[in-house]
Amino acid sequence: MNFPVGAKIIGVGAGLPAAVVTNADLERLVDTSDEWITTRTGIKERRIVAEDETATGLAIEAAKDALAFAGIDPSTIDLIVVATSTPDNLYPSTACMVQAAVGANRAAAFDIEAACTGMIYALAVGQQFIGSGTFRNVLVVGVDIHSRFLNWEDRNTCILFGDGAGAFVLTATDIARNEMLGTYLRADGSGGHLLRIPNTGSAYPHVGTTPQKPLDRFLSMNGRPIYEFAVNAVPEAVRAACAKAGIRVEDIDFLVPHQANRRIINAAAERLGLGQEKIVSNVDEMGNTSAASIPLALWQAIRRKQVVPPATCALVGFGGGLTWGAAIVKWTASDSRQNKEN
Ligand code: ACO
Repeated sequence: MNFPVGAKIIGVGAGLPAAVVTNADLERLVDTSDEWITTRTGIKERRIVAEDETATGLAIEAAKDALAFAGIDPSTIDLIVVATSTPDNLYPSTACMVQAAVGANRAAAFDIEAACTGMIYALAVGQQFIGSGTFRNVLVVGVDIHSRFLNWEDRNTCILFGDGAGAFVLTATDIARNEMLGTYLRADGSGGHLLRIPNTGSAYPHVGTTPQKPLDRFLSMNGRPIYEFAVNAVPEAVRAACAKAGIRVEDIDFLVPHQANRRIINAAAERLGLGQEKIVSNVDEMGNTSAASIPLALWQAIRRKQVVPPATCALVGFGGGLTWGAAIVKWTASDSRQNKEN
């Protein structure tokens, strides 16, 4: 659809736990090795929350960082969308907690859940509200704390995930200056069983008249089919989003994929014909931070000056649901805090 109003990203931010857990630390917990984890996934370390850290806390930190990057007054934010599968509670939503904490006192706020594709879904929602002329400024946050749902005795899953939050600020612009060039969203619920965190919702009666069921609330995953799904879903989503944006895949300056596994990222980039210099990845330092991983990867690439504006970026996610999707974004923003220093 052709929107009357353009949208662009003007801020990016991060919220990270302080504690770093290395592969050597995991060798002491389960029967694994740094060599196995590194060669199969590319992950060397990840951040894991302390007991007193929460998804809401990380989301607030990322939101404040992105607002400061954008140099925007929080009271001008019209909408906050938080993508998360691991909120502190079923309600109030994480978005409402962020709204109060950052002082976005006239913003609407809600959460969405699309697992590791959550940030792509949230970006698309933000763009729709801006493009239709409904709202001018939208804050989108992706946050996940998978460590609280991992079986730390299961080497198949506990080595893969990290905790964190990432955020973007979107604003309205003239349609001729639109920088959200194209989005593509997909889902296939028939693959839902491949990746689950069961017994955490209302299907599990914690109290009531039905007898208690055995409590297994750990993340469960069938890794091989997820791997196969991902290496097909990423190129499909990028090609489809490029077609919607009216650009060629070779016009992409940077591929910013969901950071699940370096082998998935490399295989997908190869299928797209994109060289290593175009890949943005920090899976080695963060592990899989689910809804946070795409903004966290871009945030770090900007800080390290790998991504320098202007750049055409393909943000692409895949994950539980199953869900997948991509957004082609022109990156022109720079940090307002550094602009002030200069
Ligand atoms: N350390 C040592 N050995 C291990 C470990 C470990 N941490 N984990 C598994 N193994 C063993 C297995 O037991 C198996 O041993 P066996 O052959 O004796 O049975 C062997 O290693 C090979 O296991 P595979 O599962 O076949 O290994 P594979 O090469 O497929 O790699 C992996 C596993 C990394 C999980 C891969 O399948 C993968 O990355 N899949 C995608 C996962 C993913 O991205 N999930 C997140 C999606 S996003 C979201 O929404 C959350």
